[in-house]
Amino acid sequence: MPELSFSLNGRPRKVVYEEGMTLLEVLRDVCGVTSPKDGCSPQGACGCCTIIVNGRSVMSCLRKPESAEGMDVTTLEGVPQEKRRILAEAFVREGGLQCGYCTPGIVARTVTLLDRDPHPNEARVRKALSGHLCRCTGYHRIVDAILTAGGTWGDGGPLSKADGHPHSDSGPRRGSFFGEECGLRRGSQAHATGVGSSSPRYRGADHAMGEKDYIADMTVDGMLHGAVVLSRYPRARVLTIDTSTVGQMFGVERILTAEDVPGQRHVGLIRSDWPVFVARGEVTRCVGDLMALVLADSRFAAHRAAEVLEESIQYEVLNPVTDPDTALEPDAPEIHDGGNLLDVCAFGRGDVDAALSASAFVVEQTFVTQRVEHAFLEPEACLAVPAGHQDSGARGPAGRARLKVYTQGQGVHEDQRQIASVLGLSLGDVEVELITNGGAFGGKEDLSVQAQTALASLLTGRPVRTVLTRKQSIQMHPKRHPMTLHYVAGADAEGRLTAIRARIMGDTGGYASVGMKVLERAAGHSCGPYRVPAVDVEARTVYTNNPPCGAMRGFGANQAAFAMEGVMDLLAEQVGIDGYDIRERNILGPGDRFATGQIMSGSCGIRQTLEAVREVYKNAPYAGIGCGIKNTGIGNGMDDTGRLLIRVLDGGRLELLTGFTEMGQGLFTVIQQVVGEETGLSPECMTVRATSDPRVLCGMTTASRATALMTAAAQTAARKLTLDLEGTSPEELAGREYHGEYICDFTVKPGAEVENPVTHMTFSYATQVVILDQEGRLERVVAAHDVGKAINPLQCAGQIEGGVHMGLGYALSEAFPCTDGQPDSFLLADLGILKAKDTPPVEVILIEVPDEVGGYGSKGIGEIGLVPTAGAVAGALFTFDGKRRFRLPMTDAPAAAPSLPKSRRDRSGNV
Ligand code: FES
Repeated sequence: MPELSFSLNGRPRKVVYEEGMTLLEVLRDVCGVTSPKDGCSPQGACGCCTIIVNGRSVMSCLRKPESAEGMDVTTLEGVPQEKRRILAEAFVREGGLQCGYCTPGIVARTVTLLDRDPHPNEARVRKALSGHLCRCTGYHRIVDAILTAGGTWGDGGPLSKADGHPHSDSGPRRGSFFGEECGLRRGSQAHATGVGSSSPRYRGADHAMGEKDYIADMTVDGMLHGAVVLSRYPRARVLTIDTSTVGQMFGVERILTAEDVPGQRHVGLIRSDWPVFVARGEVTRCVGDLMALVLADSRFAAHRAAEVLEESIQYEVLNPVTDPDTALEPDAPEIHDGGNLLDVCAFGRGDVDAALSASAFVVEQTFVTQRVEHAFLEPEACLAVPAGHQDSGARGPAGRARLKVYTQGQGVHEDQRQIASVLGLSLGDVEVELITNGGAFGGKEDLSVQAQTALASLLTGRPVRTVLTRKQSIQMHPKRHPMTLHYVAGADAEGRLTAIRARIMGDTGGYASVGMKVLERAAGHSCGPYRVPAVDVEARTVYTNNPPCGAMRGFGANQAAFAMEGVMDLLAEQVGIDGYDIRERNILGPGDRFATGQIMSGSCGIRQTLEAVREVYKNAPYAGIGCGIKNTGIGNGMDDTGRLLIRVLDGGRLELLTGFTEMGQGLFTVIQQVVGEETGLSPECMTVRATSDPRVLCGMTTASRATALMTAAAQTAARKLTLDLEGTSPEELAGREYHGEYICDFTVKPGAEVENPVTHMTFSYATQVVILDQEGRLERVVAAHDVGKAINPLQCAGQIEGGVHMGLGYALSEAFPCTDGQPDSFLLADLGILKAKDTPPVEVILIEVPDEVGGYGSKGIGEIGLVPTAGAVAGALFTFDGKRRFRLPMTDAPAAAPSLPKSRRDRSGNV
């Protein structure tokens, strides 16, 4: 095997590595250095793997190990402590990180940037970031963090602990609320970190410096590595899976296929239609189908063997069904038993035909939206450890779990249920802990490799870790639904809406995932935040052999909003009023009915957001406006639950247990803030963990609901603890537990025949204005959001900025096109994600109209950020060039050009 001699973080190293490894693999897999992350290796598109070689920042996934021979290689672990402190504090203070997966690479780049130029201007910083992707933040706060760090670079300046950054020390945080390190029992520090403060992100400094482990960073003695083998064809009968040759390859321990599954082979969040392995003789349904899992003693060996096995599987290739209309034809091949129509959601009220006939103006238009890839920067991963293994830590609810599974999914209890069903075990046999993930945006709701990895651990009796490559990640997980939305809408002579008829079709690909719920949500949000007296809506969800589609930030509301905002602009043109005035005449208020018939409560703050941007819109020469509404909570007749368990540990520390996932949205910080607010205790005393403990049973971390539900639950639990804090000794408190829960059980399905069909727990609201410059390029976005209560204003604004960034990409450049069921590209660079230099300033206006249900009045902020954006962009483009656009992405727009791959320009079809 080849050898490499180099200096790593100031120490000479001599290592051997496997032929074909990248420098990143040598650093991570051979040297055990984990601050450089693998986001897309070997594509060199995300920048997560950035390191410093001889004083220059480079992407280590693009480098061969021999290129580092004799060089000085520095990772964040080797950056001088004072610089680490400055950088960590700057990123936490400015809100420059959310999930944190991109951050270590950006911080490494920042070191070389500031070493060369300690005081760069903003343009230089944005240019330096051109090799980096961040899917969470929208970049502005990253730029701020770098500029802030530059202000003190080299002189150890004013950024210090004294400035109120209690998380500034990296490494495990210590402290006891009874001890000196945490100060007083009811310390004043909580006031700076309580509800309504921009409290520093939980373990923010650790994330910034690459010291917070993601699953791919976790290793256990004796661990095997799993590598998946995926289908080469979207529709093909599997003839043979011959594992004999690959099983002999160097390092390979075992290969798992469908025959190894002892329990249920099919999983699914709503419908169990998705096989964890496709069996010989069966027909594949998409290119993400999993055929086998190769286990080997190194990640490199496992992937090399998986590639060989993938090529050797024999298929009978069949014609895929890739168009929803074709899929619904009577002679179309059935993708699943029972036909290709997965679901229909239909409801209405009033006489739409009569209302349209009586309308002064009627518009009819079809809108088309595209399939989109989540592009979270941390590919899916799972680690399973059998009970009894020295590093397992498996402790199960009853202390008898046979397996501990570390997952980065979005639903700890859902993961547990499905894994147990595949293994044929009881829930108590499988303990699941969610590890804070590197972004999800809905794309980690479905199982990816958890069941297969757990099975491998169970069958081998050894720890097993499986980490997807970027290509595999893109190939496997569900996308945002492409939809076709046909609208007929009427208005009276003054522009007041009279009726809407909407027919929506969504391509959910090979598996159901939550597709029927996405289309149900699109139907429910089909009229936007507007008052419509007569409504007739139908949404159909259709199976095809395209990549599966499921949850993605906005969950069907974005598609509906693009169509509805387009309808509003068309009607405004006919009536002869502007975009603001037509929205002002129709905007929902308390007492009005949402599309589903739900009567809006007094907390409906959409009008306030609209009025907040009136002057901005009216005074800009090229501007578009869009209003958005997004439900909080799953609703539609399903319960929403939030639960928190506070455990008092020895030494006066608190462990806060939740079933919701931290994925960059800041939930763990929010939980700390609430407990601190109620108890007066410092967040320094608290750790937060997401676990499958049944006492914190809750649903998926989805539908913008974790904050609203969890703050209500945490408040209850913390108040119980507060009562005991007075007059109870620390020794007596140790071991006590305090439980809080909030259950929303009052929603009904769309179409329920009741006077007030409350389909949703609550909603969040936004109005955004997109402003173009004289060349038709993005100049700035003003985003006014009613969030109910900004529990953490810094994080809240960060969520909105990140949402707007994703919404601009959705509008202008992002797409995941497929041909005959095959993705056109597996490259991150081809997805059309906006870079830092192409992202315009976003001015956030936070409006707080307190909610009646959400904790402290909060409404949820995770999804609404991009709901109105595409419609506002389309409106702005029309003011610039007079062209109406009804198809996403609007790649023919001048504003789209910088971020769009050459291969995808001029394919929008907009005319
Ligand atoms: Fe940048 Fe999540 S914080 S990708």
